[in-house]
Amino acid sequence: MTPIKECLINNKTDINPIWLMRQAGRYLPEFREIRKKNPNFIDLCLNEELSETITLQPIDRFDFDAAIIFSDILMIPYGMGQDVEFKKNFGPKLGNLNINNILDLDENDFKSRLDPIYRLLENLKNNKKLKNKDLIGFVGAPWTLLVYMLNKLSPKNGLSKVFFHDKDLISKTLKILDKFIKIHIRKQIESGATLIQIFDSWAGLVNKDLSKYLYEPTTSLVEYTKSLGVPVICFPRGISDYNKFCDEVRPNMINIDYNIEPKDLLNKIKIPIQGGLDPKILLTNRENLNLEVNKYLRVFKDHPYVFNLGHGILPETKIEMVHELIKIVRDFT
Ligand code: CP3
Repeated sequence: MTPIKECLINNKTDINPIWLMRQAGRYLPEFREIRKKNPNFIDLCLNEELSETITLQPIDRFDFDAAIIFSDILMIPYGMGQDVEFKKNFGPKLGNLNINNILDLDENDFKSRLDPIYRLLENLKNNKKLKNKDLIGFVGAPWTLLVYMLNKLSPKNGLSKVFFHDKDLISKTLKILDKFIKIHIRKQIESGATLIQIFDSWAGLVNKDLSKYLYEPTTSLVEYTKSLGVPVICFPRGISDYNKFCDEVRPNMINIDYNIEPKDLLNKIKIPIQGGLDPKILLTNRENLNLEVNKYLRVFKDHPYVFNLGHGILPETKIEMVHELIKIVRDFT
């Protein structure tokens, strides 16, 4: 059994597997090298040879306990026929959402648009480098995908005022997302994903009707993934009550963000926990890193805990600091 499954399924507390969100990305010079030659990000995600190389880059360098496929949560809107573009130093920009086209969309068209992702998983699943490691597939949660699809830009500076007004469009979109996200989960599992993570990066923007926007849509995906025999990790970034989220949604593991004081969760959350460290700590110094990493390791000493960050690793992170982080985690007793 893989180290992460030992935590997740056997509730082992004496090991701390480690992988990092966004481990396949811009902090790696070898990724930036490939990226420079491939200015179109969506095309890069649809290039299964290069995506395989990128997925394995952090494994080759750091021997993490899991590989997460190189892809993006916005491949789902792309598969549903919405234009998705990544502008340099700007982030994603989506085209207009045509809900009627999406309601008419044939499942097979969606699957064939995303087929390179499934081939990527097929190619990786028997790779010797991933022996005794998990191969993580992922999706965006319905809420976060809804936000990008309707807002068309990152909601970094808030959501446009009209966002909450079209209730009909919101419920239609959430419903159709449930269908296509499930197809994407099933296809990833059939192609070799051994774990699924659901990223709800903008969960913290919801301050009322949490059941409708977060709990219910995510529970539907969690139950579906479990029914396929694969464990599921949720990352509802920025929510104020992780305990309630776990009670409602019942994932196999919960990834916490860095605004949560880890010791406040002990004795409350009964399921395995992942993550938490502020990625900015990796930009400081070794001494500080040691202090902060040990805080998490000590708090979760007797709790099944997978080491990860409280959000994606930052592009400006130095490679030496990642080596140091791994050493601290692996040497901890
Ligand atoms: O974790 C991994 O290494 C696997 C690959 C992965 C990417 N995106 C590659 C990527 C994963 C798991 C994601 C998830 C993702 N994508 C999320 C959820 C996690 C989070 O960070 O909150 C979100 C919100 C997105 C949407 C997205 N993709 C944005 C907002 C951006 C631009 C800003 C940014 O953070 O880079 C991306 C681009 C993106 N996705 C890059 C990578 C490596 C950078 C592309 C580049 O400019 O070179």
